[in-house]
Amino acid sequence: MNPVISATGLWTPPHSVTNAELVESFNAWADKWNSENKAEIEAGTLEAKTHSSVDFIEKASGIKSRYVVEKTGVVDPDYMRPKIPERPNEELSILAEIAVLAANQALERAGRDAKDVDAVICAASNMQRAYPAMAIEVQEALGIDGFAFDMNVACSSATFGIQTAADYIRAGNAKSVLMVNPEITSGHLNWTDRDSHFIFGDVATAVLVEAEDIAPDDHWKILGTQLKTRFSSNIRNNFGFLNRADPSGIGTHDKLFVQEGRKVFKEVVPMVSEMILSEMERLKLKPEQMRRLWLHQANANMNRLISSRVLGHEASENESPTVLDEYANTSSAGSIIAFHKHSEDFQPGDTGLICSFGAGYSAGTVFVERAG
Ligand code: COA
Repeated sequence: MNPVISATGLWTPPHSVTNAELVESFNAWADKWNSENKAEIEAGTLEAKTHSSVDFIEKASGIKSRYVVEKTGVVDPDYMRPKIPERPNEELSILAEIAVLAANQALERAGRDAKDVDAVICAASNMQRAYPAMAIEVQEALGIDGFAFDMNVACSSATFGIQTAADYIRAGNAKSVLMVNPEITSGHLNWTDRDSHFIFGDVATAVLVEAEDIAPDDHWKILGTQLKTRFSSNIRNNFGFLNRADPSGIGTHDKLFVQEGRKVFKEVVPMVSEMILSEMERLKLKPEQMRRLWLHQANANMNRLISSRVLGHEASENESPTVLDEYANTSSAGSIIAFHKHSEDFQPGDTGLICSFGAGYSAGTVFVERAG
């Protein structure tokens, strides 16, 4: 049974934070921290915090703004984290809620009734809790009969989720699999870390992977999927049940997102470019046949390098669309947002690549062709 992508969905939070707003709150926080720690700084036992800069953020990453589910907390220099109240168990969790919003759009676009979906996979970097699985809560909220589970492959979760869904269909264990990527990255970002406070944004995406014989006419053939992992601690978050983070989120640096950005850049660009090129060879696809690359959205310069290695020339915005300028890095959802927003113009037979990469390291490729 051939697996295809029937439709995608996107939910964008209502609040956007510009680099200027972000830097203003960070700098106010840094000034306050410096004055509170004046004596230690003067004694040389603590290093003063330096200001962040809008120019640096845009040049180094390409990010201009990010969406967040809660804005007042992250721009408050006295708080520096989202103000998201805990909900009682009887209420839908916020992560499930945003997944359902994206999922409903995908189901609607595919003309699929939720009761005809067989399985739900929640593939994301930032699960709200250990268990019960977020995916089972989404399944329940949508009224899906079947099975559901969570998987976390950090920024590559969506492509790993697509291959997993595709494998269920190939094996005949399901005909319609809903894969959701709710990312509340604002909860695991250290808003007081100058090196990374600008990196992430919140969002939710959904991809409906189905057997070709039940898919709507307007779908995407999956030509091939490939996954790769290689262990690295250069992107890491040590938060877990064997340790307790300071509830303020401040001063527990490694229980939030940390990375060696330069090393990630240098090591991941060749790993991903080589992986894409070898998969293109296996699928007998030439660079000129690749109409578009929907790449993971972490850094605009990184995407420029990867796309030029794959295509053999500097990619135009049309060939490698950017969404991180508006959304920042949305972890697993980045390449799916790019695909969702920049694929309507594809004609039957046009070919493209959804590609993700990130912590693990992990990388995934999903080559697709517009059907019709
Ligand atoms: N404002 C102003 N200056 C800053 C700054 C900020 N917010 N953050 C860092 N700097 C400074 C550094 O202190 C450093 O100064 P120095 O040269 O005097 O030491 C300089 O800018 C360069 O810092 P560096 O961290 O080397 O920047 P970079 O060019 O590597 O860009 C990233 C940083 C994170 C944008 C970039 O490395 C990146 O995107 N890497 C890939 C990350 C990735 O894909 N991660 C996956 C996450 S899922």
